[in-house]
Order: sequence, then C-alpha cells, then structure tokens
Amino acid sequence: MKEFRIFPEPWRVKTVERIALLPREERLARLKAGDWNLFRVPARDVFIDLLTDSGTSAMSDAQWGALMQADESYACARSWEHFEAAAVEVTGYPHILPVHQGRAAEHLLFGALLKKGDFVPSNNHFDTTRANIEALGAAALDLVIAEGRDPRRIHPFKGNMDVEKLESLLSEKRDRVPFCMLTVTNNTGGGQPVAMENIARVAGVCRRHGVPLFLDACRYAENAYFIRIRDERYGAVSIPKIAREMFAHADGCLFSAKKDGLANMGGFLAFRGDAHADAVRDALILKEGFPTYGGMSGRDLEAAAVGLREAQDEEYLRFRIEQVRLFGEMLKENGAHILEPAGGHAVYLDALRMLPHLPQEALPAQALAVALYLEGGVRGVEIGSVMFAGTDPKTGKPSLPPMELVRLAVPRRVYSNDHLAYTAEVAGEVMRLKERIPGFKITWEPPRLRHFTARLAPLLPMD
Ligand code: F0G
Repeated sequence: MKEFRIFPEPWRVKTVERIALLPREERLARLKAGDWNLFRVPARDVFIDLLTDSGTSAMSDAQWGALMQADESYACARSWEHFEAAAVEVTGYPHILPVHQGRAAEHLLFGALLKKGDFVPSNNHFDTTRANIEALGAAALDLVIAEGRDPRRIHPFKGNMDVEKLESLLSEKRDRVPFCMLTVTNNTGGGQPVAMENIARVAGVCRRHGVPLFLDACRYAENAYFIRIRDERYGAVSIPKIAREMFAHADGCLFSAKKDGLANMGGFLAFRGDAHADAVRDALILKEGFPTYGGMSGRDLEAAAVGLREAQDEEYLRFRIEQVRLFGEMLKENGAHILEPAGGHAVYLDALRMLPHLPQEALPAQALAVALYLEGGVRGVEIGSVMFAGTDPKTGKPSLPPMELVRLAVPRRVYSNDHLAYTAEVAGEVMRLKERIPGFKITWEPPRLRHFTARLAPLLPMD
C-alpha cells in the first residue's frame, strides 16, 4: 500500500465546541485576578488548553451511544460487567476494583500497604502519587536513568528505571520497601516510554527480593505503541499483546481511566493476586463506593469500557504519537527548546534554556507558562520548582528538581494540527520577548500540592 506523507486523524468531527481568544489586556487581567496561577484562570478564558491530557478527551460516537444505555443499578450493574470485562481484557489481571480516578487508587493502595518510614521507588512518581506517599510519612524515590534527568539527551526509552539503583536500595532496605512502582509512560520525566526489557528487569529484581511491582499504567497504550515503533522485536506485535506482556511482568496496576481510558472520569486498581484485592476492598466500600461502581456512575463505567478498547486502536495511536512528535518539531522550528524527544502525551518546554536570564530560584518554568497565556491564550502546566521543590527526605535540606519544564499536554482527539501550529508560533513570540519576562515568587502556599492553589507574583511589574 502506498504510504502518503500525511497521516490524518482516523476520525471526522461530528460535534464542535466554540473557543475564543480574549484580547491581551483581558488575559493580563485574568492572570492578575488568579494570582498568576494558571489553575485559577477560568477555562472559558483559555484559547488552547494544554493544561492536561487527563479527563479532557473527546468521546467517540460509540462512547456516547454506550452512555445512553448505561445501567445505574447499585450492585452488579450491566455497565459494571462491561467495564470489568474491558479492564480484564486490557490488563490480564483477574481482580478489578473501580475508583473515581487515579489518585483514589493511590490513596487506597498506599493506605493498605504503607507505613511511616517506608520507601517507595519508581522511575518518577507523579505529583499526586508522591503526595499520597508522603502524606503517610513514607518517602517517594525517583530512580529514573541518568538520561531521563537531562532534557537534551536522546534515548529511545528515557522513562526507564535505573535497575542498579533499585537493586542497591532493595539490598540495603528491603524491609522498608513494601512495593515498587513503575510509571508508563513516565509523565513527570517528560512523557517518556519505558522499554519492555526494563520492565522485565525491574520485575526480576523485585521478584528476587520478594517485593510486589505495580504499574502506574494510565498511559500504558502510548507506552505500548512506543515499544512497537522503537523496539524492532515488537514491530509486528499488536498493541493489545504488547500491553498484556507489560502487565504480565507486574503484580497489579493503578489506572486513571482519564488518560488511556479515553474517559472524562474513572479509574481502577487491578491485581493478579487475591491478597492485594482483599487488602483494599473494605476501604474501597468505605471511601469510594460498592466494589461494582467505586465512585463511578453507570455512564462513567460505560464510557470507560468503550474507551479502554478504543485507546488500543493502532490507527488512533499512530495519529496521536505522530501528532505530538510533529508538535515538538513545530515548537523547535519556532525557536523553542524542548525536552528531547517529544513524549507520548505532551511536549515539555525546557524553561532553563528558553529563559536563561532567570535562575532556578526565580521559577523560570512558571514565568514561561504565564508568558504563553499572556501572549497567546495558551495554557500549559509548570512542572518545575513550583510543583516539586521541597525538602530532601534524606538530608532535610532544601532541594530543587533536576529540570524546569512547562508541559504542553495534548488532549486526546481534541485539537487539530493547526491548533498546535498556532501554539508553536506563540512559543516563538515568547522567545522573541524573552528578555522582558520577569521571574516569579510564591506569596502564599498550602502545606501540600502547592502548585494547584498557590498564589504567585512577578518579581517585576508586567504589562
Ligand atoms: N499517575 C500519573 C502518572 C498521572 O499522570 C496522574 C494524573 C495520576 C496518577 C493521577 O490520576 O488525575 O485520575 O487522579 N495526571 C494528570 C496530569 C492530573 O495532568 O498529568 P488522576
């Protein structure tokens, strides 16, 4: 078959939603009113919203159709059967415990297995994952490979875990490590995939030390697609098969269906063994809901059941990974610096290189995120010192994250390549104005997860 240069969206548009660009002075007013925190800017005042790919997917006609037929019965509803069957089919795990979103899964699992003073290794923990671990007095350890900490280094599987570091942690502190995690793809580390070989090696080390391994699997389908295109041994293997092999190495997973479930809400915990399922079931009933709905409506269950299978569609994944790659190329053409290579769900701007006049203490990623909204109505999210600066659990000293990034996450099936080309031009304009972009400081913060609600201020007046 002839390969054409362009691989277009494997769908056509049936419903549209109006979006509008406010005048610049009004955007400035919205920033001031929201204390310069983009989480506090009303969504209606954002033109291109790349804050997150989570819960922001466009649903298919098949999902909307299933939603209309949902069964809202309390126990053992038909919609639960559909959801459970899809989750078992995707993961291969027999025990599925539904939750309303990923962080509820974190809260339930960690509450059952963790105690004060424990350590939880991962390649990189996501912010809510880290916070749920720290809230229990345990320490979240990021053991990503060295390449994964350097925005410029190219590596096909930059999300891999450093297996030697894991081995030495488990040799020294096995008793204080109740389980190990692996995030696929590695969101905090730039949406980078984890190689099958790395998953297998991590699983091998965990098995030898008798430590369970759980995948934080919300972007597993994108990870599976990267394995397919970057590991020649998998070039002819189907996505569902690659995914099953990934899950087969672990003992269970935490899953936010708001990403590769193509749902606007939902999630689950899945386990191979009875013991883990039994350990969380009571708390699930107490905190989330009966184990056949766990915080989701029948409509949510139906939408996710269909979405879980749609996210494995090869044409869909090909377009998605290609679109994000193209976005990265367009950003670079406009003079932006990105974390290389582009991730699966997002492109991450390297703020230290884009705004070199700002030291890390002046929150350059925050400054860049604000500038993108001010100049073009584009909303990204800061993944730098506002999100992650803190105290080193070992030394008690202040610690800064290794990278200052602005993540431009691409919602699934929502924006066209033109929306992204526009965004790349906005980034180019920000580069042109960069000398005039001031640093930021935090004027108020809550004790935990401060980036969501912190108030900030520019170090120089902005107009
Ligand atoms: N794990 C990872 C790797 C995530 O990226 C997220 C959420 C969660 C767990 C928690 O899931 O939102 O359903 O409670 N990430 C979103 C993001 C919020 O913007 O990256 P949740």
